[in-house]
Amino acid sequence: MTNLQPQALVDAAVAAMARAYAPYSHFRVGAALLAADGRIFCGCNIENASYPVTICAERAALSAAVSAGVREFAALAVVGGHEGVLGEICTPCGICRQAIAEFCAPDMPVYLGHAEGFKTLTLGELLPYSFSLMEDKKI
Ligand code: THU
Repeated sequence: MTNLQPQALVDAAVAAMARAYAPYSHFRVGAALLAADGRIFCGCNIENASYPVTICAERAALSAAVSAGVREFAALAVVGGHEGVLGEICTPCGICRQAIAEFCAPDMPVYLGHAEGFKTLTLGELLPYSFSLMEDKKI
């Protein structure tokens, strides 16, 4: 069951953003990964007093899914904003793009929520020429 409306996935990311732990940057991020079987795995950013220990929302969602045995995905939604207020789109950082590319196809849609709705990009648009050691994913 993957015929979920994109806005529903964005809404799940917004709900996840409310659980962000961001006392240092005050920038809250939420991510929702739609698995091929229809389940949704969410993540939020979890900051740390030792700043580099911080985990981004996208990798938190990916960790939740993979830890549950899920490795096939249909879509991703990401939202973020200062104190959780949506303004412009919040694009995944480079590390998260590479992490997502390990499991997701270049044509997978990524919905980036903003104050007025959401923008749709593909993972391949966000990270062209991603690094891979998998022969079948080589460009
Ligand atoms: N952050 C994410 O959660 N995802 C991204 O792709 C970019 C940045 C978080 C990390 C940190 O807690 C805050 O946003 C500010 O950088």
